[in-house]
Amino acid sequence: MANKNKFQSVTGMHDILPEDQKYYRKIYDVVSNIAEFYGFGKIDTPIVEETELFAKGIGLATDVVKKEMYNLKTKGDDSLSLRPEWTAGIVRSYIENGMHSLPQPLKLWYFGPCYRYERPQAGRYRQFWQFGFEIFGESSSVIDAQIIQIFYNIFKELKLKDLIIEINSVGDSNCRPYYKKLLSSYLKSRESSICPDCKRRFKENVLRVLDCKEEKCQPIKTEAPQILDHLCDECHSHFKEVLEFLDEIELPYTLNPYLVRGLDYYTKTVFELFSESEGGCKNALAGGGRYDKLVKLLRGRDTPACGAAAGTERIVSLMKAQDIEGAKEPETQIFLAQLGSMAKRKGLWLLEEFRKSKVRVAESFGKNSLKAQLNRADKLGAKYTLILGQKEALDGVVIVRNMKTGKQDVVKIDEVVAIVKKRLK
Ligand code: HAM
Repeated sequence: MANKNKFQSVTGMHDILPEDQKYYRKIYDVVSNIAEFYGFGKIDTPIVEETELFAKGIGLATDVVKKEMYNLKTKGDDSLSLRPEWTAGIVRSYIENGMHSLPQPLKLWYFGPCYRYERPQAGRYRQFWQFGFEIFGESSSVIDAQIIQIFYNIFKELKLKDLIIEINSVGDSNCRPYYKKLLSSYLKSRESSICPDCKRRFKENVLRVLDCKEEKCQPIKTEAPQILDHLCDECHSHFKEVLEFLDEIELPYTLNPYLVRGLDYYTKTVFELFSESEGGCKNALAGGGRYDKLVKLLRGRDTPACGAAAGTERIVSLMKAQDIEGAKEPETQIFLAQLGSMAKRKGLWLLEEFRKSKVRVAESFGKNSLKAQLNRADKLGAKYTLILGQKEALDGVVIVRNMKTGKQDVVKIDEVVAIVKKRLK
């Protein structure tokens, strides 16, 4: 019977156990190598920020701020929130640390946990890890294409299959208000046919209606006016250029006129990346876009910016579904077996000698049976097992057993590191 008092991890949050670390490590290695190649500097910001930063940056009416934030009051009565995403905190840091005076464009990347109080389901957690890339101080469309290319390259390098980029433009303060009006008046005449959620979205942020997945709203969406037909000249040519860059580097994209994203700070380009193959889910692996007004909105100088973030858990589950291996564990070439307390003491010393010489040695000091230890050495694929019994410890020697042939010889304990190193070459 289950113990009622057993502690469990918090709903929607999970442990990353040792056997899964190899996937996270592989992703981290690929992401950090790519970040280095493209000249991004790593940044870490606190997990907790002022609630107002997210409310202002992400938007009060967004689901993320309205429903999904973990808010807390400190003893000093400050309102703080666990970060639901990184971008707002990074913009805060960019402003606070005067990064506008560094050479621009300024490129930053990050990797760490985020928190959203969402309904837990496949690919949706309350604590999840994001990695992301942000570029500040450059308004050119080539930056949008480069951010997309970076994420595409990361997923390619991870060997994820059937990648697809969905892309759209949400315009800017010149053209979006007019489009919103147009969409509102179109929806007004159909308000009775849209789902209750859309009725709410219609009032709070009409663009979000385009994001609705409800069956009954689909025909209404299909006939709705599309923002791409109503972009101002600047947004239109910016978007056209982004697509031309993507064509040039041969990235597979589709235009998705319904892609509006769930965060309010975007201007112009928005995009998401998916895997369409088996095991791939409808959830985006990554999403992002341009946010030219956010730095100013958060009380910094007017600074164009563009970036995106990816969800690590979704990538890990896709890697597993597509039989993609995680980072390789380093090989165990030597196993140290010991019998008796004196041998254990010598064994501890010998292990350190190997560590100083940078030779990996596995052991199981807790075990006393030679058979069990040899089995373990076999399982780990060790080439040699060093056997240290009471007699060997007294005589200052160690038995070197070749695990493949079963041949054994006795060498001086002071010389075993050098001898083994030579045999491994
Ligand atoms: P986002 O689309 O909200 O964008 O999140 C980016 C990615 O994080 C998603 O594509 C998804 O893979 C992952 N993700 C989001 N929520 C969850 C969840 N509950 N469980 C698991 N994974 C999740 C942003 O956060 C923006 N800050 C991206 C950005 C950066 N835009 C510009 N710069």
